[in-house]
Amino acid sequence: MSYQIAVLPGDGVGPEVSNAAMQVLAALAQKYDIELECREYVFGGAAIDACNNPLPDVTLTACQQADAVFLGAVGGPKWDGGAMRPEAGLLDLRQKLGLFANLRPVKLHPALAEYSPLKAERIKNVDILILRELTGGLYFGEKQRKNNQASDLCSYSKYEIIRIAKVAFEAARNRGRHVTSIDKANVLETSRLWRETVSWLQQSRYPDIELRHELVDSAAMKIITDPQTYDVILTENLFGDILSDECSVLSGSIGLLGSASLGAGKQGLYEPIHGSAPDIAGQNIANPLGAIASVAMLLRHSLNHHKAAMALDDAINRVIKRGVRTRDIGGAASCQEVADKIIHTINK
Ligand code: IPM
Ligand code: MG
Repeated sequence: MSYQIAVLPGDGVGPEVSNAAMQVLAALAQKYDIELECREYVFGGAAIDACNNPLPDVTLTACQQADAVFLGAVGGPKWDGGAMRPEAGLLDLRQKLGLFANLRPVKLHPALAEYSPLKAERIKNVDILILRELTGGLYFGEKQRKNNQASDLCSYSKYEIIRIAKVAFEAARNRGRHVTSIDKANVLETSRLWRETVSWLQQSRYPDIELRHELVDSAAMKIITDPQTYDVILTENLFGDILSDECSVLSGSIGLLGSASLGAGKQGLYEPIHGSAPDIAGQNIANPLGAIASVAMLLRHSLNHHKAAMALDDAINRVIKRGVRTRDIGGAASCQEVADKIIHTINK
């Protein structure tokens, strides 16, 4: 059986980092005898330009039929203020594929400690898995604009909270057995339901996992002052969007981190957590490691190929250690050179 991978290069540096990541995936497929069919589809701003729709039907159908979707990046100033936004395509795709769980692992590579804005002793051993709820809350609530007033509805059901919290507790079982659930329960009703539901689930199903609740404002501070105290962070859509960007800088560069968006089955969408970086697009200087780290997540979650995923994680670590680095982490290597070195390391 051949796995179908829908590749959405998207905008800005998206095409270059996708290209690098797909070369790496092809090398692993060859080495580990994994049958793959990767096809590219237009998406985001590129799709607005081509067919006036950030998520064209052909792209959506291909993604629905694929075993996994790989995305480069979407958005850019070019589409600011337009009637349609590239980001709308991504939100729509997440919702239509039912990808309610967004996993963003943040780990410091010891060789890159000097690129973290925090002091070395503070970030030593940082290893956080952020679990962001991805298809509910403010981003998907009813939106209104009337005269000089606008509103976005934030709504969560118990069902939505339980299904994401389960993913967090299950993930914690394979890690440090600790979940920090982040909300704003001193103000928001959705947060109060969130807190009650997460506590109930922990008491009834996951008594072996330690659970701590934190308010989002103080958590934003503690992520900087005490990042080592977090294992799994569980939070809703908006807070997760903000806190995951905050956490990403702990690792030294947002360009290093990958992500997986998962639903009830094996299918997933994988993308680097960085944006489209239009200022450096087309120059072959973007860091492809976030996209490449997303390939490891794809191999693990959607293709169940742990051996290839481990080999890739190992190759990423070796290449960083050897000093083959793009500009954002103090080197001069190009995007393609980093991909070439990863492939060379895999095939050694
Ligand atoms: C992210 C991005 C998206 C989000 C945008 C592009 C819609 O910021 O994946 O974090 O807000 O979810
Ligand atoms: Mg974001």
